[in-house]
This record gives sequence, C-alpha cells and structure tokens, in this order.
Amino acid sequence: MLIKIRKDNAILASEITDKSVYQDRRQFIKASGTLALAGAASLAGIGALSVSREARAGKKISGYKERAYVTDEPLTPIEDVTHYNNFYEFSTDKEGPAVMARAFNPHPWSIKVEGEVGKPGTYQLEDFIKPHTLEERIYRFRCVEAWSMVIPWVGIPLANVIKRFEPTSKAKYVEMVTLYDPQRMPGQQRAVLNWPYVEGLRIDEAMHPLTMLAVGLYGEELPNQNGAPLRLVVPWKYGFKNIKSIVTLRFTAQEPKNTWQVTNAREYGFYANVNPEVDHPRWSQARERRIGEFLKRKTVMFNGYADEVAGLYAGMNLHKFF
Ligand code: MTE
Repeated sequence: MLIKIRKDNAILASEITDKSVYQDRRQFIKASGTLALAGAASLAGIGALSVSREARAGKKISGYKERAYVTDEPLTPIEDVTHYNNFYEFSTDKEGPAVMARAFNPHPWSIKVEGEVGKPGTYQLEDFIKPHTLEERIYRFRCVEAWSMVIPWVGIPLANVIKRFEPTSKAKYVEMVTLYDPQRMPGQQRAVLNWPYVEGLRIDEAMHPLTMLAVGLYGEELPNQNGAPLRLVVPWKYGFKNIKSIVTLRFTAQEPKNTWQVTNAREYGFYANVNPEVDHPRWSQARERRIGEFLKRKTVMFNGYADEVAGLYAGMNLHKFF
C-alpha cells in the first residue's frame, strides 16, 4: 500500500490510472471489462447498459489540478461508485439513490456559515468554492458496513474554505447539515432518520489537510446520488461521516450530535475512525470487501492514513471514543 502527499516530483494520478481511460466513458467501460461490469450490475441489481448510460450524463469539470494523495490500488469503476450508494434522503436501498435522485436539481445552491466565525453569511456555491482552486485526490473510502472503494474525488481541502470565515477561538467543532426538503428529497417523507442529516468534526480534524470538500468525482460534477453539489470526504473515517449535499457549516463550542449517533449511540459514535480493532456491535470491522473484488481484505488502521492522522488522537482511548 502506498500513500503519498504530492510533492512536486511525486506520482500523478494519471501515471497510475490513465486519465484518458476514465475520462472517456465508452473507453472506460470497454477497458474495465466484463468482470467489473458484471460486478456493478449484480451489486446494483440493474442492467449494465442502463448503468453506463447514466454514468455518461455527468458534466465535466475542467482545469482542476491533479495532485495530492495517490494510492497504487486500482480505482473502483465509476458504475459502482455511482450505483452502489447510501443516501437515505432518496432511498435506503443501495441502488435506489441513482434512480430516485435523478430529478433532483442541485442548482442554484447556497451554503450558510454560522456560529463561532468572524464572517458568517450565506454564500452561493460558486463563491464558496472557486473552480480554479479545485484538485483531484484519490482516496480509499471505507463504509461502516465493511465494504470499500477507491475514488478519484475533485474538490478542495476543507481547511482552505474554513480559514476564509475566520473561526473564533471558541470554534472547537464544525457541524454540517444536509438540505432538508422532503419534496425534492422524497426519502425525507419517512422518518427513517432524524432529518436533516447532521455530521460533525473536531476543528483540528476539519482543518487536517486530508479533509476535503468534494464537488466532483472521476473528473465530473458530483452525480446527485453521490451528494451533489457539495459533500464531505474524510478518508480515515467510516463513510457515514461523509455528509452529502451540505447546506450549513456551523462552528460550535460543543461537540455536535451526528445523525447516526442520535439514531443508535451504542453502534455509532462521533469519531467513526476506521479501526479494525473496534468492532461494530453487530459485525467485525477487521476485514472489508473492496467493491468489485471477491476476497475480503484486511482493514487497516485509520483506513491506511495513520501516518497522517494518528497524532490527532494521541492519548485517546479509541475503544471509548469510537
Ligand atoms: N449523507 C446524507 N445526507 N445522507 C446519507 O444517507 N450516507 C452516508 C454518507 N453520507 C448519507 C450521507 C453513508 S452511510 C455513506 S457509506 C456514504 O455517504 C456513501 O457515500 P457514496 O454513496 O458516495 O458512496
């Protein structure tokens, strides 16, 4: 396993996976072969052809920088990334969000910044994240349900966004909230979760250079089912921390209550760091199934990002703060 912070002479993502291969949907589908497609189709429970048609609909993002974090592991095919989702605002089935979120229009989009900041306000997405600041980062993504993917995100470090709003010394946490609009997000018409979906990070986790706000994947704007137009990506934490379709950033002195913790505090904590030594009460976290692979692989501490992030938790009992 190889994780690199991009230095000037470090490997580009394109040197590992030829970008032209994944940027051209047709070519990509051909290159990924029958096995990957069969995997996508069986996982998603829908035909491979309709899967690829939808995946081609994405709008390309141009001009982002290819750098930052790189892994030598193969990328998860875009069909799987966009058709095996958790997004309860649209559906509780893995294949549901791609279908149920099709009509969702994430534009225009504004983000409220409030709480312990010098510059609170409501910002249009275009002002919140400037296109020329975007970069691509390839991260492993590990869901608490013990499956994983490798995804090329396009976005910017959350720290770069936060600094502009000048958090006060009382800002110890950042709470993030998903859009609440049951008309546009039909899953919210049922009380499956305590809506709106809320997540939070400690301020030092939020400011960590690995933490990213993503607006795209595979060089395209985020598909609706992946959290358009703006979602969090924290690669050393379980997938549920990666809140989608964010409308509020709230800086607080108190630790926020995240949705899954509110739903079941015995099973889901605030930290949600990937940790093979702390099992979920109902299943082991020691191994995971990489989507598209048959055999399970070992789960690695902090999802393989320990060198970068272990220091954030020095001295903490990770069995208690799970
Ligand atoms: N964000 C919102 N608003 N609603 C959700 O249901 N699911 C979470 C997370 N973010 C979820 C969410 C979970 S459990 C996971 S594993 C990831 O999104 C899945 O992201 P993906 O569908 O892009 O793989």
